[in-house]
Amino acid sequence: MSGFVLEWVNLILRWAHMIVGIGWIGTSFYFIALDLSLRRRKNMPEGVYGTAWEVHGGGFYHVEKYLVAPKSLPPDLIWFKWEAYLTWVTGFALLIVQYYWNANAFLINPAVLPLLPSQAVVISLMSLIAGWFLYDALCRSAIGRNPTALAGAVFVLIVVAAYIVSHVFSARGALIHVGAIIGTIMAVNVFGVIIPNQKKITASLVAGEAPDPRLGAVSKQRSVHNNYLTLPVLLLMVSNHYPMLGTTGETWLVIALILVGGAGARHILNRHDAGDPFYRIWWAFPATGVALAAAIYVTAPRPDPSLAGLEVSEGEVLTIVARHCATCHANRPSHEGFDEPPKGVVLVSIEDVQTHADQVVAQTVTGDAMPLGNETEMTEDERRQLGAFLLNR
Ligand code: HEC
Repeated sequence: MSGFVLEWVNLILRWAHMIVGIGWIGTSFYFIALDLSLRRRKNMPEGVYGTAWEVHGGGFYHVEKYLVAPKSLPPDLIWFKWEAYLTWVTGFALLIVQYYWNANAFLINPAVLPLLPSQAVVISLMSLIAGWFLYDALCRSAIGRNPTALAGAVFVLIVVAAYIVSHVFSARGALIHVGAIIGTIMAVNVFGVIIPNQKKITASLVAGEAPDPRLGAVSKQRSVHNNYLTLPVLLLMVSNHYPMLGTTGETWLVIALILVGGAGARHILNRHDAGDPFYRIWWAFPATGVALAAAIYVTAPRPDPSLAGLEVSEGEVLTIVARHCATCHANRPSHEGFDEPPKGVVLVSIEDVQTHADQVVAQTVTGDAMPLGNETEMTEDERRQLGAFLLNR
């Protein structure tokens, strides 16, 4: 498939993924806020647990929450599940188009592990499947009876997964895989647990029987996990635009800090929705801030003092970019599959290299995202020369 067509497929899938993802996260945010804002009021109809008054878009809304089924369920009862399912489907399609199709470029870094594209794809699929089954087993195990212990165990599971994938894939591939593993857990939670349980509960209520309380408790456990995982996943999904996240060699640690920061931010929003006063939630601000500050510290570029004395001429730099960059980063790339310079970055003249100096340093000197998949086998020495030229300007 030509690079141009593949780019369009990629863009349309990404767009669709964002649309349904916003739908999923939007409804999830809305229902959590709604649930936490329900109040018991005088003269509530029978069977109503609480009500909320809301104003939006020029009208007032009065919402009542029933814990038992009303006398008859309306035929047009609205279920919220397709947002979740389609987010997973479009995300998986995007994984194929972006990472499996170009596994050599985006998923594999031979310096981490020399894999064939087929091997990388099999490991990727296995990671998604294993992630779900291990998570589900933890939830069903004895640990699952204690919500705090379970949250800790799920956190450890994700960090271990991050450690493993960052020793298998490129940094960029590792970051997206942790996002995909968590996203798969969240979507299967909806598809395999929350919706089936809701159907059983609804059937019991309609039959006038008391539903098995375990069904509701298990759904609650899974939705709390989904709630706290939402924000870390969002950051991981855009991580590929920020190569600095993968330059430390300790990508798992960056991911652990993102999990803490994202869950902390979600906690603040949850408790704010519930109407908690500031003095009860203030601690979550420094906790989130410390996690993010630590992530910034861990990923900060470390100046390499040995570069200071290194003299590199313009001619040497031009030779390096001609050999390693310009096949793709030229006005008319000669590299197969590229019709235009990727991201509009042209690297032919010395001025080009200087114009994009910061990006080049991030991609090639402190990080190793470029040359793509290190196809041209750029050496450590060449990276240091490029770094010395740009950093000693
Ligand atoms: C095989 C083709 C190829 C080669 C060779 C290559 N690049 Fe790239 N480059 C890409 C692609 C594709 C992207 C867009 C990546 C993405 O989608 O995130 C890119 C993006 C970039 C960006 C922009 C990143 C951003 O901020 O979004 C920079 C800077 C860059 N490359 C520098 C280099 C340098 C420096 C070299 C040589 C040392 C190089 N590239 C070699 C294909 C290549």
